[in-house]
Parts: sequence; C-alpha cells; structure tokens
Amino acid sequence: MCAVIGDPIEHTLSPTMHNAAFEHLKLDFVFVAFRVAPDELEKAVRGACALGIRGLNVTMPHKNAVTEFLDEADPAVKFLGAANTILNQGGRLRGFNTDGVGALKALRCNGVNLTGKKVLLLGAGGAAKAIAFSLAKEVEELCILNRDAVKARELANVLEPCGKRICGNELSPRQIQKELSDSDLLINATSVGMTPNVSESWVKSDWLKPELFVMDIVYNPVETKLIQDAKAAGAKVINGVEMLLYQGAASFEIWTGCKAPVDVMRNALLSRLSSAGAYV
Ligand code: ATR
Repeated sequence: MCAVIGDPIEHTLSPTMHNAAFEHLKLDFVFVAFRVAPDELEKAVRGACALGIRGLNVTMPHKNAVTEFLDEADPAVKFLGAANTILNQGGRLRGFNTDGVGALKALRCNGVNLTGKKVLLLGAGGAAKAIAFSLAKEVEELCILNRDAVKARELANVLEPCGKRICGNELSPRQIQKELSDSDLLINATSVGMTPNVSESWVKSDWLKPELFVMDIVYNPVETKLIQDAKAAGAKVINGVEMLLYQGAASFEIWTGCKAPVDVMRNALLSRLSSAGAYV
C-alpha cells in the first residue's frame, strides 16, 4: 500500500494517477488518501511505518513538519526543509522531494534543453523553491521574481553557490517585461490563474513570443490564461499537468523500482480533471 496524507485531501489526484499505473503494470499495490490533521502527523507517520505502508506522498500542510520524522533525507529535502515523498525501507523512513526533479523531467520530456539558457521563474513559495533548486545547476541564468521580493532575494542568495547567474527581485509588470525580453523559458510557479481566478495572469500577452517556452505549474484549469496567451503568441507551452505527472512518476519509481508508465498516468489525470470541469 501507498498513501497520500494531507489536510484537506478530498481533491487529491494522486490515487487516480498511481492506481492507474499500478493496474497497468499489474503491480500488487493500491494507493489511498488519508486526511491527517497537523497534530496527528507524527502518529500517522509512525502508524504508516508500523503497518508496512511502502510509500507516502505528503502534501499541504505537512511537507515541512514531516521532515522531523525521517531517518534519512535526500539533498533536495535538506535544502528545502520539505519532503513530498517517503519510502519505508524495512522500517527506515527515507524522505525525498520530487517537485524539482519532476519539473526538470517535464521540461526535458517536452523538448526543453536548459544548457546555456536563461529562465524567468515567477514565485518563491514551496514549489518555486523546489524548481529553482533543480534548475540552478542546469541553466546559465535564473531570475526569480516574487510578490514578496524579500523571499525572491533570499532564495537567489542561498542558490548563489551554484555558481550560475541567479537574481531575485519583485514581481512587477516592469520587471517581468525587462527580464522576459532575453529569457528562453518562463515558468509560473505562483498560484495565479488557478480556479476560480482563471482570468488572472501577470504576463501581458504582447510580451510573449514564439521563441519562448512557457511552463505553468497550475493544473486547474489545465489551460491557464498564461498558457492560452502563450499559445496564441506562438510560444511552446507545457501545462501544469506535466509537472504534476512527472513529480508523481518520480515518486512511483522510488516506491516500486519500476519505470513509471507516464502516458497511462497522464491519461488518468486528464480524464479525472476533465470530469471535474478543469478545462475552460
Ligand atoms: P506552493 O507550495 O504551491 O508553492 P506557496 O508556498 O503558498 O504554495 O507559494 C505560493 C506562491 O504564489 C508564492 O510565491 C506567492 O507569492 P508571495 O510569496 O508573495 O505570497 C505567490 N502568489 C500567490 N498569490 C499571488 C498573487 N495574487 N500574485 C502574485 N503572486 C502570488
């Protein structure tokens, strides 16, 4: 058994994606969701371990607090102070954060080569941090813009030892337009554009150009305003389902040791999102 723990948890897509993959590969696994209140987190994790649950996905609000209960943490967990995946290896709890590697894989599998490129990243929250941590080692230049500029600058500072050109600044129309003019890839890692605020985007459509790759981590709606505008401008787009998919695929591989059937998982996600009305 594998499970996702969070609070709230009703809208999680993890069981859909993982059960489709388990069935497709005929693995003797099942994936369930548990709502765990913050003050029950330790008991839930220790209980999952005692029950021999093979793996956990950890979502809001537990990603940070759960790191206290790990026996081992991968470098991303150590840097971020947050884990989204736990492997129970014979009673030893190993923590991983697959958000960053998932984003990187989503980019690569959709034709993005990051070497020598400049990336403009919007956001400096949990997801943005994980993406920045993975990107910093790969790209030539990374510019992080956040509504709270202090968070953007702090993130840029801690990533500086990577030796690449990394800067942090305020999220403003002027900064976006300036930084976008020589960027190769734009990533929205804020929650802007998410249902119900589907008409929101910080990026004006006439700043977008065909040479640009645009990735949004918002997956509900599947086509955000930013993705629609980028498409209309002729840019190449990667929607939020891809990041969700590849972070899940990375967790799946940690738990099972099997290569994740990403097409099966994507179809399961898209049909579930479609029946939930996530297409606008
Ligand atoms: P997650 O774990 O999904 O990244 P989070 O850590 O709460 O969630 O981060 C949300 C991100 O979206 C932050 O970068 C936040 O900006 P602030 O740090 O300034 O709060 C950003 N965000 C949320 N609403 C926003 C808005 N209306 N305009 C711009 N940025 C917004």
